[in-house]
Amino acid sequence: MTQPPPPKAIVFSRDVLPILRPSCMGCHSGPTPASGYGMDTMAKLLAGGRHGAAIVPSKGAQSNLLRYCNGELKPKMPPSGALDKVQLGTLKRWIDEGAKVDSLVAATPSPLAPARRGENKEIPLVPPAGRGMGGLAIAPVTALALSPDGKTLAVGGYRVVRLMDPLTGELQKTLTGCTDQVQSLAWEPNGQRLAAAGGVPGASGEVAIFALANGKVEKKLTGHTDVVVSVTWRSGTDEIATGSLDKTAALWNVATGQRLRLLKDHADTVLTVAYSPSGEFLATASADRTAKLYRTRDGVRVAALNAHQDAIVRLAFSPDSKRLVTGSADKTVRIWSVKDGPIENPDATQYEPEALTACAFSPDNQRLFWVSASRKIKVFAANGRDYQQEFSDATDWVTSLAATADGKTLIAGTLDGKLFLWDLTTRKFLRSIESRAK
Ligand code: HEC
Repeated sequence: MTQPPPPKAIVFSRDVLPILRPSCMGCHSGPTPASGYGMDTMAKLLAGGRHGAAIVPSKGAQSNLLRYCNGELKPKMPPSGALDKVQLGTLKRWIDEGAKVDSLVAATPSPLAPARRGENKEIPLVPPAGRGMGGLAIAPVTALALSPDGKTLAVGGYRVVRLMDPLTGELQKTLTGCTDQVQSLAWEPNGQRLAAAGGVPGASGEVAIFALANGKVEKKLTGHTDVVVSVTWRSGTDEIATGSLDKTAALWNVATGQRLRLLKDHADTVLTVAYSPSGEFLATASADRTAKLYRTRDGVRVAALNAHQDAIVRLAFSPDSKRLVTGSADKTVRIWSVKDGPIENPDATQYEPEALTACAFSPDNQRLFWVSASRKIKVFAANGRDYQQEFSDATDWVTSLAATADGKTLIAGTLDGKLFLWDLTTRKFLRSIESRAK
């Protein structure tokens, strides 16, 4: 607490967020924040709660946020303990300098990350790879999953999963009970349960299993020693698989809550896991640049995919289980033919200007989508070779892509907490939706 104040201009993600997140956001975030004051979007952070504006930009001394923290207004914040002088000084300077938010993501260095839009080397993070995900100011959309019947879109946020109408954005239900940011979502293929993965950075991972009938957490699967960033459900079974920043993947029985198997074949964080829709294979991909393919029948590892030069951040099977797409921080997308044996080379490789952040097939098996940190979404035929169209309306990094069951609408979730919708038939941008509505 004897650190000198930062010499340069205050940077929100680097200097302010690390104060607010641990000291304030436990109470001032989520669906029912203390005093109606949520800090989990920029608008709310400024707006304040019952007592009006919390921040008057450029006027630190007059801002409620500071006046509650320095004891001028009662009760003093945070209620137990107090911020030290350096922290108070940082908050004041940040407001005095205009209360600008540079990034929605904490400036925690990630080994995977390219510079975010080339601006600031301290804002890294290819979602959902970095530990920086633990320091989010504004709940980004980190996970999207359409229900098997196509009627409900599950949207992962900070501690909650919102169930929305995928076309109107109308909120159907909010599921609570997750410990931190929801990193990944997987529907049970019959639509009865939903797995939501997350955890506490550097400490523990969890998967909450929600029963859709009552919206309650039916089971929590714990045991990973760091955040679970990916979860997948094996069709027709009670089995799910998880990938974690603790460098392991694991198989679990959802009914008993037991871990069935721990996979330690990766040398670095396991960023994505997926069962083939047929249930025949499990694929895992890692920051160690490789992906592995396992045969589920006997658990044998049948292939290692070794073509990428940097972390593989996303991986997806085609609906017919015949293809696999991998998206990497090496700025390439590769499309592979799945077989029950060694796989040497990809069938196709596509190059992007920046690191990949998401990729997905359309449920009708006709198209393949991917997007890099350039935010331009590419639409290709499912073979990954034939270009069809692209969309550049997203205002922040796209962390997840999904298409509706009829293959007509493409949905993207972004780090700034929005959903974007496009009509794949008319090639038009339809609208954007605030995922945090209400
Ligand atoms: C343990 C829970 C808790 C923590 C932690 C906490 N607060 Fe609060 N905060 C409250 C409660 C409760 C109120 C309502 C107090 C009242 O008016 O009686 C409140 C009110 C406020 C308000 C006034 C909002 C309004 O318009 O009504 C501000 C500003 C505020 N807190 C800022 C902070 C800041 C900044 C931090 C972190 C440094 C913080 N709080 C940490 C519980 C908390």
